[in-house]
Amino acid sequence: MADGFAQSVKQQADIVRIVGEYVRLTKGGAQSFKGLCPFHKEKTPSFNVQAVQQFYHCFGCGQSGDVFTFVQKMENISFPEAVRTVAQKCGIPLPKREFSSPEEAQASRLRSKLLEIHEQACLYFEEQLQGPEAARAREYLTGRGLTAEAITAFRIGYAPDSYSTMRDRFQSGFEEEVLRGSGLFSAKEQAEGGSGTMYARFRKRITFPIRNEAGRVIAFTARALDNDEKAGPKYLNSPETPLYTKGHVLFNLDKAKQAIRQFEFALLVEGQMDCISVYMAGITNVLATSGTAFTEAQVRLLARHTRQVVVNFDPDTAGANAAEKSIALLIEEGFSVKVVTLEGGLDPDRYVRERGTPAYIAALRGARRHSDYLIERARTLFPPVTPDAKVKALNFLLPHMQHIPSRIARDEFAADAAQKLSIDSALLRQELKQAAFARRADVRPKSSSALGWSEAEKLLLRALMLPAGQPARELARQRMTEEPSLYEGLAASALLSAFLEAETISNPFDLAPDESSRHLLAAVLMNGGQEIQTQQVEDAFHSLRHSRLERRQRELRRSLAEAELRNDSATVQELMTEKMALDRVLRDG
Ligand code: CTP
Ligand code: MN
Repeated sequence: MADGFAQSVKQQADIVRIVGEYVRLTKGGAQSFKGLCPFHKEKTPSFNVQAVQQFYHCFGCGQSGDVFTFVQKMENISFPEAVRTVAQKCGIPLPKREFSSPEEAQASRLRSKLLEIHEQACLYFEEQLQGPEAARAREYLTGRGLTAEAITAFRIGYAPDSYSTMRDRFQSGFEEEVLRGSGLFSAKEQAEGGSGTMYARFRKRITFPIRNEAGRVIAFTARALDNDEKAGPKYLNSPETPLYTKGHVLFNLDKAKQAIRQFEFALLVEGQMDCISVYMAGITNVLATSGTAFTEAQVRLLARHTRQVVVNFDPDTAGANAAEKSIALLIEEGFSVKVVTLEGGLDPDRYVRERGTPAYIAALRGARRHSDYLIERARTLFPPVTPDAKVKALNFLLPHMQHIPSRIARDEFAADAAQKLSIDSALLRQELKQAAFARRADVRPKSSSALGWSEAEKLLLRALMLPAGQPARELARQRMTEEPSLYEGLAASALLSAFLEAETISNPFDLAPDESSRHLLAAVLMNGGQEIQTQQVEDAFHSLRHSRLERRQRELRRSLAEAELRNDSATVQELMTEKMALDRVLRDG
């Protein structure tokens, strides 16, 4: 991709707006915004976005860069793709696509073909649902309370009871590689005695498209219409494809994300039917995990939108287990978690439909703190009437307590548990302490100022980052070239010489050799004003000369002491002469 295009996109894009699509930002300073870092887990915001200088930096994990680096990392895409993505977000027309390698071009071509076939398949299933063959499917959906509006909104469809119809329809429009790669078809291999031809994976099923965060269809989950053995599993999913990894998607995130930010929490349910019913009832900040416990990738995905979750899983054993695992992971990642258990053993789908929206909202309002839920669960699993059962209940709760990052919340949980299980609370705290050493150490790097750049070094770094032709920049480059000894041996010398060598600096963080210099660089960029006068550059060099002399003075003192100890009078004489001259210069000037 032409470098000029990237530059032009960068000039037009506003990093605050782009980052704001992924991270909740609040105003931090006159020209800066802050939020919870999307690259590491944290509870207090150390992620900064600078509106004037157009970069981000996290003081917690040290990640920094410009709008392209950000989108690259968030979307896990290459630089050219990031440029295109940002351009699209800003409505800038794209030049024709270029790739750095044939493989990259190939992979990207396949991905867009896969997106296309998924869109086509979704339309096909939607269309099939209106056909004569789908009468039973429509009846089923009506019976489950799904309105036409819900069917349209969630693009629910029907996969006909045929191995070949869908294939015949798609074969002419898509290459074999795309048909195979899509996961929409299965093939009996010739080696296994099959003909090698492909047949439809989803048959006689209600289809639900799975969409990515941007709302594109990337996979399907399909419910059997019949409950008998022959129908196969109740829900059948797309296999993993270049578009779809199961544990990386949250069902309905595209539709729910705005409401999640508005309400400042997400409602988490297990099934997509639960999700659809609850959403259609007007509770639009709802997501489905699709029947499994939360994965770390899903937590990351969610953390970009909120850190507060209400979990409403099925009341059955599978649901309770999934809830426990999900709670543990969410708590560990610093989420605040509440849990709803619906009376009557109903799942959210049935509860909303049978009791109505107001009753469901009341149930959500009654969500309990996750610790209360877990203690209750421990009491149910191991009624604490015997010492043995109390130990078991305790062992059930301990891992959950350990995962709580905050000590205060941990102690509170322990005190509650002790009381409700009638265990001596001192004993419980002791147990907790013993288990505590196993807790993951907080490896978060402290923002380091160990290198300690002087004001002069900071000013020169800022000067070198100015656009070419600015007098302050040109003067700094000239002085540094004339007198390299001035910045050699300084804390920032590696960065200064990297800046000097670079003709243009598009992303200064790329040139920073290590994390602590990235931290320092970010601080420099944030605190420095915009304008630099040439006099300031001269002053900086003056101060550098001065401190170089001071360094030499300290060296001389040391060498002198050593020479005196050795009774090396010739050297002492020589060093004394230099030192006196130096003292004079420093005193005068
Ligand atoms: N699930 C699955 N495969 C199965 C069964 C369930 O992937 N064989 C997933 C689905 O995402 C389902 C979720 O687990 O939505 C919850 O399972 P379950 O409670 O059995 O499904 P419900 O949503 O209650 O399904 P339905 O109401 O359609 O019977
Ligand atoms: Mn269910």
